[in-house]
Parts: sequence; C-alpha cells; structure tokens
Amino acid sequence: MKAIRVIRDEHRAIAAVVHGMIHLVRDIRERGAKPNFQLFGAMIYYIDAFPERFHHPKEDGYLFRLLRLRHPDAKTLLDRLEGEHRTGAHKIRTLEQALARYQHGGESEFPVFAKAVEDYAAFHWEHMRAEESEVMPLAEKYLTAEDWKAIDDAFLGHSDPMVGADAGSEYQALFTRICNLAPPPIGVGPSAD
Ligand SMILES: [Fe+2]
Ligand SMILES: [Fe+2]
Repeated sequence: MKAIRVIRDEHRAIAAVVHGMIHLVRDIRERGAKPNFQLFGAMIYYIDAFPERFHHPKEDGYLFRLLRLRHPDAKTLLDRLEGEHRTGAHKIRTLEQALARYQHGGESEFPVFAKAVEDYAAFHWEHMRAEESEVMPLAEKYLTAEDWKAIDDAFLGHSDPMVGADAGSEYQALFTRICNLAPPPIGVGPSAD
C-alpha cells in the first residue's frame, strides 16, 4: 500500500502551499507586508494544476473507482469527494479572479482576496481530512491485494504517462520554485520587509 504514503505526501505538499498563502495574507493584514504577486500567482497555479491534473485523477480513477466496487456503501462519501474535485476547480477560478482584482485594483480588493484564500483553505482541509480519515480506513479494509497493486502503480507513476513520474518531477520543480520565492518561515526566499 505504497499509494497511501504517496497520497499523504501529496496532501502535505498541497497543504504546505495553502498554509503558505494563509501566512502571507496574515502578514499583509497584520504587518502591512507588501504583496508578492508573482509568488501568489505561482502558488495558485500549483494548487490548481497539481491536484487537478495529477492528484485527483488518480484518486477518482483508481482508489475511488475500486472502493466503489468493493464497498458500495461508500457511494455517498465518494460521490461527495468526487463532487469536491469538480467544485474545487471553480473555487480556484474565484481565487484567480480575486488575485487579479487585488493586483490591478489595489488595496481595496485585498479583503475579498483574503477571504477567497481562507475559504479555499477551509474547503481543502476538510476534503483531505475526509480522504485520510474516512476513505483510507475503508480502502485498507475492503480493497484486495490486486486492487492495491493497480493503485500503487498509478500513484507511483507507472501506469499513466499523464500523471506519471515525469509529470511528478515537474510539480516538484514548481514546488521548489515556490519555496525559493517565499519568505521565511514559508520558504527560503527574500524577506517580505
Ligand atoms: Fe481528493
Ligand atoms: Fe486527495
């Protein structure tokens, strides 16, 4: 069940970027820090592209699909989570628009952007929590060894070139770029002051 570790790692990477955004928003609100729009843009691109093109397709296509077969009672939970994969994409569009308004409209647009960041963080936090504390125990209980082989292959990037090892290293490079742009304690970039 190597996939469980990979899913947790991918969740931690997404959570790190989301928490980084919350931290930056707080710095702007509480300390009057200057917004780094290049960094916000890279972060929003990451939390859009990484889950959308890399993480969710593997959950939907392998983990959730097989769990639906082995444990039909999980339908309500899995319908909700798959629905969130779709609504999450809309929430990111809202976030992108709020960032554009803040960047081009100035400070008066900050509260709407800050709220969009906080809403997205709460939404995504609850989504990952449900996957880790509700889906994974069911998967461990009901999936077969053969199911895990297929899921592990998918999550380790061995079965689909679209979400495979090369795609994984692209997102790793983007994550590193965000760390290099972000001020401490989020990353190792220049201080916001
Ligand atoms: Fe998910
Ligand atoms: Fe997930």
